[in-house]
Amino acid sequence: MAEMIFKGYKKKVVGAVRVPGDKSISHRAVIFGAIAHGETKIEGFLTGDDCLSTLSCMRQLGAEVERDGETVMVKGSGFNGLKEPENVLDVGNSGTSIRLLMGLLSARPFHSVLVGDASIHRRPMDRIMAPLEKMGGQLFGRANNRLAPVAINGTKLEAVTYNSPIASAQVKSALLLAAIQTEGQTTINEPYLSRDHTERMIRAFGGEIKTSKASCSLNGPQKLTGTTIKVPGDISSAAFFIAAALITPGSELKIESVGVNPTRTGLLDVLKDMGADISVNNPRELNNEPVADLVIRHSQLKSTTVGGEMIPKLIDEIPILALLATQAEGETVIRDAAELKVKETNRIQTVTTQLNKLGADIRETEDGMIITGHPGQPLTGGKVESFGDHRIGMMLAIAGQVAKQGVTLEGSEAISVSFPSFVKLLETVR
Ligand code: S3P
Repeated sequence: MAEMIFKGYKKKVVGAVRVPGDKSISHRAVIFGAIAHGETKIEGFLTGDDCLSTLSCMRQLGAEVERDGETVMVKGSGFNGLKEPENVLDVGNSGTSIRLLMGLLSARPFHSVLVGDASIHRRPMDRIMAPLEKMGGQLFGRANNRLAPVAINGTKLEAVTYNSPIASAQVKSALLLAAIQTEGQTTINEPYLSRDHTERMIRAFGGEIKTSKASCSLNGPQKLTGTTIKVPGDISSAAFFIAAALITPGSELKIESVGVNPTRTGLLDVLKDMGADISVNNPRELNNEPVADLVIRHSQLKSTTVGGEMIPKLIDEIPILALLATQAEGETVIRDAAELKVKETNRIQTVTTQLNKLGADIRETEDGMIITGHPGQPLTGGKVESFGDHRIGMMLAIAGQVAKQGVTLEGSEAISVSFPSFVKLLETVR
């Protein structure tokens, strides 16, 4: 396990950066490129381990995929162009890969097996398998069809209306990837709207999908056409730099070309409420996705309460929000976030235990946490662990900005899952 030391105490964060491409959009661009007809060019593809897993799975399925740095060319010949893989498809640590591929492959007329690392094999897959089974899918998993590895006997599916009990873009996207190959209208209703990159991408590839509030409907089968996808910077990666600038006195940082899709900007909304000085400049669109430049200045934050429909809009940012709350005046409450327990780690537990080791004051609750902020009072610092979770690793690295004795991070290699250039980029702004 790699160990790294982060000593950022009082080192102000200044300058301008671009963060790597959006993880959710990069996964989808390769998958849709492979099932579309013709050539797709992806610019700004995220070269983190997770997206590389999707890329290699799509190659094993017969898609022609060439990568040169952050540019990926995909030649697709429709979903009928995919072929039975000769070996198991290994998604590594990537929940998005395994879940989206389950949807795609359940409607292909061949056998496939999806495997991943130890974390993937602990995470729930029944949330995808159960609705796909309603469509007639034949999927088989460990522990009563709950866990991966998952074996799929692809077959012809039937369109359904599915009322999802959770707001999950992975569930919705898996079903849409099945529905786009299936005769008839499939409708998905969510309790709250989850990230809508799949819906936007279907349109970018010339497909049709109806959306209204937290529902979407698609008539299949549809023929998609290859296109150029310019991937915006990942707001979930930008979040670590936003936090570093907000909590370090004297900081002023510009982050260029960040995706600001409203289903992803919950952190910006909450931070505004907490008194953060963040301007969103030069709004524009790239392939139906809103993009802007952000300017962040050090700010004295105050506490807040976060729950309900806000949670899916910032689910991946809760670890870094917890760190920010340690520096805010008052008690911050995060609730309705039990989903955190089934991420790469149980993030309620890993955030609480690791930040408390650094001197924070956080209490775990059933569906979130309560953070008592002590503004102006630095964390002590010490030795902590990522537990193989990229977002926990990066959050703890940023905690080094307010930890007097620095942060020694074990398991720092996990960072490459979503942000391989994180440490280098952090050095350029301090
Ligand atoms: C993702 C959806 C979210 C998110 C994950 C990426 C996606 O997961 O946490 O990092 O790309 O669809 P859920 O769908 O499980 O909420």
